[in-house]
Amino acid sequence: MTKDKTDIGSKTALNGKLKNVLNARTLADSFPLLAQRMKTGLRVLDVGCGTGAITRGIAEAVGPRGRTVGVDSNAALIAEARAKHAGTPGLTFDVSDVGSLPADQTFDIVAASRLLVWLPDPGAGMASLAGAVRPGGTVLVADYNHDKIEWSPEPPDSMKEFYAAYLKWRSDKGLDNAVADRLSAWMGDAGLRDIRVFPQHEEMRRGLPDFEARASIWADTAASRGPQMARDGYGDPKAWKRAESEYRHWAAEEAISIRLYMLAAEGVRPE
Ligand SMILES: C[S@@+](CC[C@H](N)C(=O)[O-])C[C@H]1O[C@@H](n2cnc3c(N)ncnc32)[C@H](O)[C@@H]1O
Repeated sequence: MTKDKTDIGSKTALNGKLKNVLNARTLADSFPLLAQRMKTGLRVLDVGCGTGAITRGIAEAVGPRGRTVGVDSNAALIAEARAKHAGTPGLTFDVSDVGSLPADQTFDIVAASRLLVWLPDPGAGMASLAGAVRPGGTVLVADYNHDKIEWSPEPPDSMKEFYAAYLKWRSDKGLDNAVADRLSAWMGDAGLRDIRVFPQHEEMRRGLPDFEARASIWADTAASRGPQMARDGYGDPKAWKRAESEYRHWAAEEAISIRLYMLAAEGVRPE
């Protein structure tokens, strides 16, 4: 797994709006199971850390006596993470593929959120995460099942068409849309024990802070991925533009709630 053969998860530049989505995430809101496991002094590796918003929350939780390392295969995102979070004690960032993680096994926790859904071989990704944690340490992973999204009310047909094409494009590229429901099995295959799985759905509800910006994630996805999908033969760029604008209108005026189905799983590496 030294190279992402799909070339869509790690190497593609994210547009500004999708980067805003990453930057708006926090440890407490976006990876609550990990937030609950935090203790001062822990050594934590966050794999696929993006621009480091969650990673920074980890560093603040473990404090200056702990150590937090964020890694991502996208060098531009790591440059941004370094610039944004410079000066947070005990926090460093490195460019690394999930397939070539530090081999010293000094981490108490190896975490990954919203990463496996972008890997061509998520089971191998889980094995890499398990190989980087110390014996007795914990692997914590949170990820989506995109097949189980719930919108209320139904979004515009143009977005439903885009979303169906997006999932088809992803699966034709070899990406699994339902990783959330396989986390436990992959943890078992990776030799982890005491595996537990918890619901960690991303709920967006009108009236909650930033609802419209958060609900617009699929308009941002249409803007970011639509042109690439059209180049790959999945739909017409004009249709994806229409999906983007109709969905933005829906998010502003009609949407009541959106639930992105997500599970968080933890497993312990045997001593
Ligand atoms: C959706 S973002 C998630 C960022 C952050 N963990 C979060 O939950 O907001 C997925 C990240 O995984 C990274 N990624 C994709 N493939 C990777 C790989 N093979 N090795 C390391 N990182 C990878 C991408 O560059 C991207 O930053």
